Amino acid sequence: MTPELLRALVAAACTSPSVHNVQPARWRIDGADLVLHEDRSRRLSVGDPSGKDTRISLGAAAEGLVLAAGRDGLAATATILHESGGTMPAIARLTFAPGAEADPLAAHLEGRASWRGAFTPPGPADREAAAAVAGANTAVATDPVSLAWLAGLCDEASYGFMRQDGFRAELLGWMRLSRRHPGWTRDGLNAEAMRMSGLEAIGAGLVLGPLFRPLAALGLAPHLLAERKSFADAAGVALFYRPADEDPFESGRHFHRCWLELEAAGFGANVLAALADDTAIAARIAKHFGIGPERRLVSAFRFGRRNGAGFPRARLPLSEVLLD
Ligand SMILES: Cc1cc2nc3c(=O)[nH]c(=O)nc-3n(C[C@H](O)[C@H](O)[C@H](O)COP(=O)(O)O)c2cc1C
Repeated sequence: MTPELLRALVAAACTSPSVHNVQPARWRIDGADLVLHEDRSRRLSVGDPSGKDTRISLGAAAEGLVLAAGRDGLAATATILHESGGTMPAIARLTFAPGAEADPLAAHLEGRASWRGAFTPPGPADREAAAAVAGANTAVATDPVSLAWLAGLCDEASYGFMRQDGFRAELLGWMRLSRRHPGWTRDGLNAEAMRMSGLEAIGAGLVLGPLFRPLAALGLAPHLLAERKSFADAAGVALFYRPADEDPFESGRHFHRCWLELEAAGFGANVLAALADDTAIAARIAKHFGIGPERRLVSAFRFGRRNGAGFPRARLPLSEVLLD
């Protein structure tokens, strides 16, 4: 293992998804190993007080690294470390052995991105391909009635979080609504990734900021924030389950794989975390799909055939992600 190769693996892992694109993963080269750390300053104190979403994000980053290593013929093993104190606790150690075969999902690492834009209206073949994504961990809804039901639940769950002043302030803090924002290409959610025009970005800043309370008092805020129409041409919604007692780090590894499977099937997807984070709504969904209490809804994806062009990924430079 050379430092150059380890650096290249970390660069590939930086394509992994993270909550609000906070990118909590930091990497340290330790001889022939890599140690994954959490940058605690990136935690969402309101949106993710328990650190669950951070751990899912760290697991996703570890899986990105394991997949990238496989492309170089290296079998990477991630061993969880139990350090919790300090500002940069060690989360996992990645060790490498020769003789791995590339996982086909690794081909989609760099191509995966959140797709929040329009979908091409799905035909029967698209709905069939969407249904085929279902598996042991994944329930898939493709019929218009179920999709409309899930869209309504998504708006209900999202609004429940959005009405909290602290949640909105934190979310706005990670939004980059103008290209002049210093974080536009680095981290967080920029208007391009959220598929907002300049005018829509200004509107979002007002609705989530100073206008939220008056609009809420008039009963208008839920309508302005509703995402229902974005489900219109979705081919499906995937509900991603894992064992209820699983460490979210491990769930995050599988979550990343689930997303890459959607990519491999030719779909663009975006995460609907509110469906999983609102426990009452998650319970209603589990009942509908006949999922027992031994499994937990980790996340959900709206997906379909992308109708539009991609956009550059906002990421921290490698020099900030690699620790000395
Ligand atoms: C735990 C977790 C929760 C997320 N929740 C949402 C969400 O509710 N809505 C959304 O649009 N994206 C969500 N995302 C996607 C991230 O915003 C996205 O991965 C990040 O901005 C990086 O962009 P990319 O996916 O295009 O690489 C979530 C990602 C993770 C890992």
